[in-house]
Amino acid sequence: MLSPTPFSLICALLLCLPLAVVFTVNSPTGTTTNSAIVRDLSKSQESHFPPPPLPAKTHQKIGIKVLHPPPPPLPEDDDSLFRVASRVNSRPFPRTAPKKLAFMFLTTTPLPFAPLWEVYFNQTPKTLFNIYVHADPTPKYDPPFSGVFSGRVIRSKPTRRLSPSLTAAARRLIAHALLDDPANAMFALLSPSCVPLHSFNFTYETLARSKKSFIEILDNEVGSYDRWAARGPDAMLPEVRLEDFRIGSQFWVLTRKHARLVVSDRRLWSKFGLPCLSLDTCYPEENYFPTLLSTRDPRGCVPATLTHVDWAGRSDGHPRTYNASEVGPELIAKLRSDSPRYGEDVVRTNGSDSSVGEREKERERRRHDPFLFARKVAPDAIGPLMSIARDVILRD
Ligand SMILES: *[C@@H]1O[C@H](CO)[C@@H](O)[C@H](O)[C@H]1NC(C)=O
Ligand SMILES: *[C@@H]1O[C@H](CO)[C@@H](O)[C@H](O)[C@H]1NC(C)=O
Ligand SMILES: *[C@@H]1O[C@H](CO)[C@@H](O)[C@H](O)[C@H]1NC(C)=O
Repeated sequence: MLSPTPFSLICALLLCLPLAVVFTVNSPTGTTTNSAIVRDLSKSQESHFPPPPLPAKTHQKIGIKVLHPPPPPLPEDDDSLFRVASRVNSRPFPRTAPKKLAFMFLTTTPLPFAPLWEVYFNQTPKTLFNIYVHADPTPKYDPPFSGVFSGRVIRSKPTRRLSPSLTAAARRLIAHALLDDPANAMFALLSPSCVPLHSFNFTYETLARSKKSFIEILDNEVGSYDRWAARGPDAMLPEVRLEDFRIGSQFWVLTRKHARLVVSDRRLWSKFGLPCLSLDTCYPEENYFPTLLSTRDPRGCVPATLTHVDWAGRSDGHPRTYNASEVGPELIAKLRSDSPRYGEDVVRTNGSDSSVGEREKERERRRHDPFLFARKVAPDAIGPLMSIARDVILRD
């Protein structure tokens, strides 16, 4: 290799100078944040995502700053966004770094338990988690997202119950989280009425250790046919057969591999993304994810949700909501002591192969995974929640 002569140095300078000027003008702060792709909703409701500012890289050889062009901004339309996200590495990277948990909040209201989450996350090194918020842009958010949620709102679209929009929003959250940080290893979906049942540490240990997703996958549930046929009889065919159709909680934790599988899927989404004709059986967010994962990688799933919910005696589509006077140490202890309901088809038996399948089934039957979150808690329970936060909720 030739050592640089004064002449070649001058040439290099002349070549690089215009570039440096261009990019210095484009990125006035010159600093980098790991939240470059997320912007606070209140500040950028209609603005485009500006290209993320880049750090200046110093070129070792000639000792001058060489600036690389910024990566293209994230596409605005979902299909392109999912396509870009489907190209990420399916394993967390770098391998040697600690895995991160992506906490993905799907909301249409300010987060009533933000102060509790603040305590939850503030005991924790920032290197172990990321937060993402999908906030329907239609309502006004007062108070605005602040503290650990500040600047964590992704570009969001309107969401409505009884439509595919909640599922689309969850897919959007996954895509942003995949693209934002290659170290995100587990992707947890949460609602504003969810509360933690354990410390971050406990939750981290449980999730970072798991090679499988936690997603409820139930077969032969009452009402399966009506949900399957909500877009018209046979509308789901041929992509989604009735016998492959599954039901499960809207709230799951997915591995990075499964997160990528979700954003890569076009076949099932082409059907689940259609509007329903029959609204009272339209819950795509409880069908799309369990159906997709049970079809594509049942063995990679623990078929249960780690978000506690109580449906006992309800038929109106809303689970029991704990009010302020019910929230206390006893409630937390009770929710923690419950055991998740496991779906039956963890391991699909394969005619003759059986002994391996049976052993695996037996092992799955003995599982007892802890609930990590619970819903639904009424917003005015924040007072009682804060008074037991440190001594009960965050003490394992
Ligand atoms: C979390 O766990 C780590 C390592 O296991 C420990 O050092 C730390 O003290 C724990 N933090 C809390 C708040 O318990
Ligand atoms: C809270 O819920 C309990 C149990 O459902 C009920 O008995 C009680 O009246 C409720 N309290 C308030 C203030 O709504
Ligand atoms: C059953 O096992 C055979 C041989 O291992 C395999 O080729 C086949 O795809 C399996 N079928 C199912 C439904 O898993």
